[in-house]
Amino acid sequence: MKGPPPLAPVDRASLVATRRDIHQHPELGFEETRTAALVAERLRKLDYHVTPGVGKTGVVGLKKNDGRCVLLRADMDALPVEEANAVPYRSKAPGKMHACGHDGHVAIGLEVARRLAPLELGGSVKFAFQPAEEASNGAQAMIGDGVLEAPRVNAAFGIHLWNDLPVGTVGVMAGPVMASVDQFEIAILGRGGHAAAPHQTIDPVLVAAHVITALQSLVSRRRDPLSEAVVSVTEVHAGRAFNVIPDRADLRGTVRTFGGHFFEDAPRLVEDTAQGVASAFGAHVNVNYRRLSAPLINNEELSRLMRDVAADLIGADNVRQGVRTMGGEDMAFFLEKVPGCFAFVGSAPRTGGRASPHHSPTFDIDEESLVIAAELLTQTAIRYLS
Ligand code: NI
Repeated sequence: MKGPPPLAPVDRASLVATRRDIHQHPELGFEETRTAALVAERLRKLDYHVTPGVGKTGVVGLKKNDGRCVLLRADMDALPVEEANAVPYRSKAPGKMHACGHDGHVAIGLEVARRLAPLELGGSVKFAFQPAEEASNGAQAMIGDGVLEAPRVNAAFGIHLWNDLPVGTVGVMAGPVMASVDQFEIAILGRGGHAAAPHQTIDPVLVAAHVITALQSLVSRRRDPLSEAVVSVTEVHAGRAFNVIPDRADLRGTVRTFGGHFFEDAPRLVEDTAQGVASAFGAHVNVNYRRLSAPLINNEELSRLMRDVAADLIGADNVRQGVRTMGGEDMAFFLEKVPGCFAFVGSAPRTGGRASPHHSPTFDIDEESLVIAAELLTQTAIRYLS
């Protein structure tokens, strides 16, 4: 009698080789064709049922079984950053770089798929290799193409390699851990004229300055101080000459929250503030407010499951509570539809000093984090399905 094979150990060499291969060939959102082809080929060899083209360049791998279905998600896209690292696996694509660690996420996903493939599991495992996380629209594209159906997904898990945490630690907690991402654009319409005769104009530059200042008071005066929020104005465009008052100024920026009243009220508050300030000066505004992604909210029970797995793996002392960020993450869209958990796996290099931040041209990870993340997701899936 031959039973199902035991769980194979993590293949560190192959995990690192895959990550470095993808690192050398970064692809931007919805252009991940090489990465998607590599993923599809590997999954097919492992006997997964593979569906390419889910959410444009996304790939789904399914190992079907009776029982519940767990989804494991890995994002695949790179950033428009020129790599400044002098490493053998440096990016070969000018102006593009895996500066957020998604190369590692793909390698981890494939290693988890390899280890789960021969096992007899108590349910289905579905891998979502997702495009375009950075622009916050890849998850929605995959959901729109039915990734959460057939079979219906009961829970979703994912990780982010995280340079704010040292390698050997993991951050897991229930509730909101990544922020909502809203974007606003404010066009301030005044009346142009001579810089020496401002009384004949409605100066949109001055109005813009007041609008920026007033928007900063939203967080200090319109928000419950016990709820988290950030408002940042990040773009200001106006004028072309030192002696001409322009007729228009344009502002762009972002609002980040963990949900709650301020999240609900923000579109109205931004619009009312811009409108009110502008009208005090006799100007008009057009406000375009868009929600890009919701806050990422971890399910209580499934966070406990993932935290227990992490504690068994690296010791409870190394499982950090309270790891959250006002950064956004479109895994939020999956977790809006199904319960699940998204964890931060420490990847700060052991070299000492501060790790390069995500999205910087010198970003890199300690590759031991790949092993920890692969083990964490493998054991989480097994435990969820057993
Ligand atoms: Ni990222």
